[in-house]
Formats: sequence, structure tokens, C-alpha cells
Amino acid sequence: MTNRLDGRVAVITGAGSGIGLATARRFAAEGAKVVCVDLDAVSGKAAADEVGGLFIQADVTDEDAVRAMYETTVAEFGHLDIAFNNAGISPANDDSILKTGLEAWKHVQEVNLTSVYLCCKYAIPHMQRQGKGSIINTASFVAVMGAATSQISYSASKGGVLAMSRELGVEFARQGIRVNALCPGPVNTPLLQELFAKDPERAARRLIHIPLGRFAEPEEIAAAVAFLASDDSSFMTANTFLVDGGISGAYVTPE
Ligand SMILES: NC(=O)c1ccc[n+]([C@@H]2O[C@H](COP(=O)([O-])OP(=O)(O)OC[C@H]3O[C@@H](n4cnc5c(N)ncnc54)[C@H](O)[C@@H]3O)[C@@H](O)[C@H]2O)c1
Repeated sequence: MTNRLDGRVAVITGAGSGIGLATARRFAAEGAKVVCVDLDAVSGKAAADEVGGLFIQADVTDEDAVRAMYETTVAEFGHLDIAFNNAGISPANDDSILKTGLEAWKHVQEVNLTSVYLCCKYAIPHMQRQGKGSIINTASFVAVMGAATSQISYSASKGGVLAMSRELGVEFARQGIRVNALCPGPVNTPLLQELFAKDPERAARRLIHIPLGRFAEPEEIAAAVAFLASDDSSFMTANTFLVDGGISGAYVTPE
């Protein structure tokens, strides 16, 4: 493990589980000071304790809480170098457009898209003061492809995250702030396990479309996030960073 993030301060939302937790571990292993943000106090604090970081309990849809979490970070550590805006949900009542009600739609938009807007809005001014920063927003491969098993609000929210990241990357490039959208394929995390435990037939259908023949492990996504966070990706911004086992490159014919 290299120390690419030595002395950097990183805020990770949704750090208590899955991709966020694996990234907290990876960032810490690469030398960063990690601020773990989560709605869930138990898992979020456990993550922070494990990586020797700071836990902040916050709902990323709450504007005051988001503003405060970056202020607390800068008050505590002096700067903000990396914002990994990763918290997201995939609830069961988000389904085909014909079945998904307006409340279910709005809830996913709030947690998956409005939260990223808020996190970028309040992280960027700190990075502007430094003239440097790396923002990574978690979108999904469904931001670039239509899924046959629809989660209409989820897919639309991730398309929004991708478009917003691209625009922010362009707007702030000459101020030293890079903004990239991470687009993972299906990852072996509680979010997906829960979804597929209820419907194994749906899980099997998805695997057909993954050339690598399996879901990603959270650590494989965390490695990509660490790359985007570090200066190794210094010429990358406004990028659609697909880490998807080949899904988006494949035209697959089921046997
Ligand atoms: N798992 C996958 O297959 C997959 C694929 C592509 C993209 N993603 C995206 O990656 C991100 C992380 O997914 P994961 O699979 O690690 O999920 P996860 O459920 O394992 O972890 C998400 C974390 O976010 C927290 N969270 C949820 N709502 C929050 C809120 N309002 N405020 C603060 N924290 C909140 C949860 O408490 C949880 O700890 C999400 O944006 C998800 O959409 C996941």
C-alpha cells in the first residue's frame, strides 16, 4: 500500500457500510484522516473507531447538517481535501414507473441526488480556499445504461449525479477542484444482498450481463475511489468512471 493520501483529510458519507466502509479503510491505509458520516450512529461510529477517524452523525438530506459536517471537519483538521459523496439508498418500493408512487420517487431523489447537490455545495467553498480538492460522487452503471429490472427513481437519481458531477468538474477545473462520478457495477454489499435475497431469479438474470461473472467486492470499488481521490488521477475531472466488471461494454446473448 502506498501513502498516496498522506496528510489528506477526507469526508465520506455512508461510511458505516458497504462501499463507504471499504473506502474509509482504504483511505486510512493510504494515510488520510477520515471523517465518517452516516445516519446510523452505531455502524458509523464503529467505522470511525476502526480507522482512527472522526464520526459525525448526519442525514445527508439535511442542509444544515451537511454544512455543519464540513465546518466541523475543517475546525478539527484544518482543511478538506477529499469529499466522497457516497450515501445512497435503493428501497424495494422503487420499481417500475408504473408501480412507483410519487412519495417513493421523491424519497430516493432526496437521498441519492439532493444529498450530492448539498454535499458539493458545501464542500466546494472549503476547497476553493485551498485551491485544491477532489470530489467523488457515487453514481452507478445504471446512470449510463437502462436496467431491465427497473428502479426508476434510483436510475434517474444516478443519471442526475453523473450529469451534475460532469458540470461541476468543468465549472471548477481551473480552481484546482476535480469532480468525478464513480459508476460501480453491482457490488456485494448489504444493499444488494437485501434486494436479491428477496428475488434470487432477479440476481441470476443480472449475472448473465457481467462479463467478469460476479459482483464486485467493496474493496475493489474502494481502490478506484482512492485512485480518484489521489494525485494519481490529477488529469481526470468531469469523468464517468465505470468500475463495472465489463457490463457497459458487453452485448450479451443468454444461452
Ligand atoms: N451496492 C451496489 O451494488 C451499488 C452499485 C452501484 C452504486 N451503488 C451506490 O453506492 C453507494 C453506497 O452503496 P452501498 O451498497 O455501499 O450501500 P450500503 O447500504 O451498504 O451503505 C449505505 C450507507 O449510507 C447510509 N445512509 C443512507 N441514507 C443516509 C442518509 N440520508 N444520510 C446519511 N447516511 C445515509 C446508510 O446508513 C449506510 O451506512 C450508494 O450511493 C449506492 O447507490 C451501489
